[in-house]
Amino acid sequence: MTETSKPVLLSGIQPSGHLCIGNYVGALKNWVTLQSSHKSIFLVVDLHALTVKQVPSELRNRCLSFLAQYIACGIDPEQSLMVIQSHVSQHAELSWVLSSLTYMGELNRMTQFKEKSTRHNENINAALFSYPILMAADILLYQADLVPVGADQKQHLELARDIAQRFNHNYSETFTVPQPYIPKQGARIMSLQDPASKMSKSDKNLNNLISILDPPDVIRKKIKRAVTDSGKEIIYQPEDKPGLANLLVLFSVLTNKKIQNIVADYQGKMYSHLKEDLGEIAVEVLAPIQDEYSKIIKDKKYLNGILKNGAEQASYIARKTMSKVYRKVGLVPYPR
Ligand code: TYM
Repeated sequence: MTETSKPVLLSGIQPSGHLCIGNYVGALKNWVTLQSSHKSIFLVVDLHALTVKQVPSELRNRCLSFLAQYIACGIDPEQSLMVIQSHVSQHAELSWVLSSLTYMGELNRMTQFKEKSTRHNENINAALFSYPILMAADILLYQADLVPVGADQKQHLELARDIAQRFNHNYSETFTVPQPYIPKQGARIMSLQDPASKMSKSDKNLNNLISILDPPDVIRKKIKRAVTDSGKEIIYQPEDKPGLANLLVLFSVLTNKKIQNIVADYQGKMYSHLKEDLGEIAVEVLAPIQDEYSKIIKDKKYLNGILKNGAEQASYIARKTMSKVYRKVGLVPYPR
């Protein structure tokens, strides 16, 4: 396949909290698998992170840390572009244009807005509400064909598709209508202490999540203490035994073993056996990532080189899309 014939893949992660095993399983792991068959762009969406209160110096460091974690997880800078969202000003520009095509009613329906505005009820700002438009802009700017995300982003992706179709309908064919890629398994890893809620990288209670950078002993301890029911039998019953089911899903995606085979292997064994083994598996998967990370994060020159290249190449695509968009909606071209 030549470079130009490859479909475009785009995804991003918000630099907030601690990149966690949920993000790894739901998104990053699939980015790594899909990157060679696509022209891939991976964003660190720092503008999105501004929708909740940030400590500026921490946000700056976290952006670089997330970039280094993308690479440590297997994103190959020779193959894929890695870009900090704010380095390409067209994200915000396109978001403005698309907001004129998005209805308040559509944004009002977004479950993530409802959840986040409950969680951050002291700071329900306008950006939190219009956030899905910026996400649509991220995707449409690069004419992405495929967007690998976890299940929680499905609704945002559907909105991005609707906005693309609406623009194409109103102003003639302009945007590729993106397809979501949501993994069959691991699309929604649950919190370790509260298996009714999603594992979230910005959870204040760090026992709810396994950070990609958690030391081995912390990983083992967190899994050991994960909430399960009071039963004994290891069976996969997400409704009755959500905590156990969550551990079985993690086990399955980290080992590529089918859940039914894992259940068969643990017949007659106790939850503590499963937890102990899962702890070791998670440590084994994350240890090489952590090793690589500790090397990369020190090399600021290397990281900046990747960001410079990413910004330059992404800006080239973004400028092309934006000049088309501005022309189609009737804005006067910049005089030459
Ligand atoms: P974010 O930063 O919350 O999450 C990043 C990615 O991780 C997935 N994810 C999970 N997958 C499985 N289990 C979980 N518990 C879990 N938690 C998170 C998310 O689905 C996501 O794929 N709005 C997006 C970021 C974004 C984006 C984009 C994504 C901005 N622009 C353009 C794709 C394309 C977000 O906040 O994801």
